Amino acid sequence: MSHDLSQLRKFVSPEIIFGAGCRHNVANYAKTFGARKVLLVSDPGVVAAGWVGDVEASLQAQDIDYSLYTQVSPNPRVEEVMLGAEVYRNEGCNVIVAVGGGSPMDCAKGIGIVVAHGRSILEFEGVDTIRVPSPPLILIPTTAGTSADVSQFVIISNQVERMKFSIVSKAVVPDVSLIDPETTLTMDPFLSACTGIDALVHAIEAFVSTGHGPLTDPHALEAMRLINGNLVEMIANPADIVLREKIMLGSMQAGLAFSNAILGAVHAMSHSLGGFLDLPHGLCNAALVEHVVAFNYNAAPERFKVIAETFGIDCRGLSHNQIRQRLVEHLIALKRAVGFHETLGRQGVGISDIPFLSRHAMEDPCILTNPRESSQRDVEVVYGEAL
Ligand SMILES: [Fe+2]
Repeated sequence: MSHDLSQLRKFVSPEIIFGAGCRHNVANYAKTFGARKVLLVSDPGVVAAGWVGDVEASLQAQDIDYSLYTQVSPNPRVEEVMLGAEVYRNEGCNVIVAVGGGSPMDCAKGIGIVVAHGRSILEFEGVDTIRVPSPPLILIPTTAGTSADVSQFVIISNQVERMKFSIVSKAVVPDVSLIDPETTLTMDPFLSACTGIDALVHAIEAFVSTGHGPLTDPHALEAMRLINGNLVEMIANPADIVLREKIMLGSMQAGLAFSNAILGAVHAMSHSLGGFLDLPHGLCNAALVEHVVAFNYNAAPERFKVIAETFGIDCRGLSHNQIRQRLVEHLIALKRAVGFHETLGRQGVGISDIPFLSRHAMEDPCILTNPRESSQRDVEVVYGEAL
């Protein structure tokens, strides 16, 4: 038996229902958990898109009472989690359902932690800090990227400190994830691009993570194949449900991979950026990805070669330096092809911000599984390149 396979591995996942229209079944699952009253967490954009209405209709059809909570910002905040927990308690809820992108889903996970423990969400930063099980949690993602609906991660924004913090625990994996590609039809092209690249970054970081293994690699590679092969076409044909389904499936597999293999420097750096400037998560990752890949390549050249081959790059006869160059060019070309032209500089990041950003990136749990051990100075250089 090889050294790799003799190591202990674990793999956690929610019960997953995948397929067009599955959101309409939410009440069946709520009923399984003995739902008396559901706290339905979402945000105003998702309400306007009509997806909350579908969930309400499903609950009403089975006479399940609910209370709607939509005070969630694009980067969910400590106060929003705490207020949601108060609503949960005051309304006598016993099940949580969230429908939306990463923000409502992370907020819902946070609410579950707070109502279970009766303490501030700030006290649960870090790895394995959860002691009491959260109420039953059903998540319905409406973007194909974040994978909060399958992951062990919660990311909350602390506006006082201007930073995001991570909670990593298998206790925040939801009980059920209803992954319905139809809900991604209302994403605009820019959101589709940012979330799609975020999902691709999940797959890349999971595949080269020091926590990768035989249970996560197949998901990471299949996610790369699906997203790399279909994202450009999907953005050109936003109403094509078959393409939406392929990207949603890719996103889900990337989520299963990274939830269990953890991530790397792209996410450590983008969490720091998102907390400091309140920038969208997918945008931060997309601005950073090729710079971190170039930085990391020599720490895991054989694995990056597999990634290059999965992207269709013909590596025969190429040196690792050449493969690295082709891989970086491929990522830049993919970003352009989906209409992404942002840089950190254009988003208002300045050189003087880099020390603060780098200090916080070094404190993020995702930096620990980055394939190349990184000093604060390394992180500063990579931020500088991405400006
Ligand atoms: Fe991400």
